[in-house]
Amino acid sequence: MSAKHKTERAITYDKDRIQYLEERIQYLEEVNRHTLDALEMAASIGDFQPNINKLQDTSVLLSETISRIQRLIQFQAIAFFLVDEETNDIFLAKAEPKNNSPYIQNEVDFLIENGIYAWALMERRAVIVSSKDNEKRIILHVMATRSRIKGMFVGLMGKDADIPDISLSLLSIILLNSANAIKSFELYNMIRGREEALKQAYEKLKNTQAQLVQSGKLASIGQLAAGVAHEINNPITFVMLNAPIFEKVWNSVTPILDKYCRTNGDFRVSGMSYTQLQERVPLLLKDIKEGAMRVKRIVENLKDFSRQGPSDLTDRVDVNSTIKAAVELVSNQIKKSTDYFEVEYGLDIPRFKGNTQRIEQVIINLLVNACQALPDKERSIQISTAYDKKASSVLVQVRDQGVGMSAEVLQRIKDPFFTTNRESGGTGLGLAISESIIEDHGGTMKLDSSPGKGTTATVSLPANPSSEGRNRDEEVK
Ligand SMILES: Nc1ncnc2c1ncn2[C@@H]1O[C@H](COP(=O)(O)OP(=O)(O)O)[C@@H](O)[C@H]1O
Ligand SMILES: [Mg+2]
Repeated sequence: MSAKHKTERAITYDKDRIQYLEERIQYLEEVNRHTLDALEMAASIGDFQPNINKLQDTSVLLSETISRIQRLIQFQAIAFFLVDEETNDIFLAKAEPKNNSPYIQNEVDFLIENGIYAWALMERRAVIVSSKDNEKRIILHVMATRSRIKGMFVGLMGKDADIPDISLSLLSIILLNSANAIKSFELYNMIRGREEALKQAYEKLKNTQAQLVQSGKLASIGQLAAGVAHEINNPITFVMLNAPIFEKVWNSVTPILDKYCRTNGDFRVSGMSYTQLQERVPLLLKDIKEGAMRVKRIVENLKDFSRQGPSDLTDRVDVNSTIKAAVELVSNQIKKSTDYFEVEYGLDIPRFKGNTQRIEQVIINLLVNACQALPDKERSIQISTAYDKKASSVLVQVRDQGVGMSAEVLQRIKDPFFTTNRESGGTGLGLAISESIIEDHGGTMKLDSSPGKGTTATVSLPANPSSEGRNRDEEVK
């Protein structure tokens, strides 16, 4: 072998070696770049979760997943099938580009049919299959947390495309993270739902508490009222009895004083001339008498209101005749208020156990309220009775075409002392008393009203009360 030949062979060998080494370097660089990309990707995977609490649905999470995958592998199309938590059905949640949806859906239906989809669900790695027409490769990869399958990733590629193993491993990591993010989102949503329910429960509790405080207040108002009524009752009776005596005295003294005035001229009494006094005293007396009457009425109402426990419920109440009596008692006021008053007595209404006088009081209260609500005599008041056989209740209804009430007023009308008629002498006790009487009878009173149209009060009383009636104190507990 010549030296020259030897050298040529060495050169060829070196050339091959250099080319080999160059290719090797290129390959290593490629792998290195991939690894770097992959590491970078892996490092950013953790960013998935932070804003999950602000998301409305999972579509943002899926978009985020797509953008990560696209940096890794160039798919022609990507789609996600998710599992509906309630029905367990799978549905196409997202496809990009969108116009590929029908194609992908079609392929997936086929994969479901031939069992590959189910098999892919069990694999915790990418499963690569050919499309029906052999024109594309389809990459299936389950999206699952440690404990639950959330869905399936589907990627579309050209039939000759190749994916490095490291990219497939990273795809697994991204999809695991994505599944975890979806799970976190669902958990967050559930917590949000619970929080809402908790908030509602809290609101309800607060309302109940407010009601309890309110009924507690009512109970103490009742006691206060009883005390006040008791204390005022005697003094006001003195005023009421003594005012007429004093009037008589004044009337018998005035002729003597008149005579004195005529002979000696006008004279002064406590800073006033006698002639002024002559005019003033009858007016003062009238005010005293009217004021005392009003106080007496309030005291009576207070006593009714604060009456402890149910009254005697031993009558066999005939509702129609009770209404007749009540109407007679307020007939003057009814005549002054309306030209259209109507009573409709129901037939075959059984008597019920109760207190006739108290029921009469309720009806009077309702009728007076109706009269006070009428702006002119053209509007009507109707009162009717009926027997609801099914509920075994006796019904009394008082309807007026009066001014009606706003929802706000309606809410407060049963509160003691709530009145919109204070100027015209209202005490705000009428409905509070009526309510407690009806409760004693085990019945209910409902008021429906709309401003400008009128009000309907419906009283329902049990014809066969299961007990002798309830004690109002029970309500407070
Ligand atoms: N039929 C009605 N139409 C309109 N408002 C009514 C009617 N009945 C009751 N109200 C309202 O309810 C309030 C309370 O009624 P009530 O307890 O009888 O007290 P009072 O009649 O002394 O004001 C009244 O001041 C009035 O605002
Ligand atoms: Mg009233």
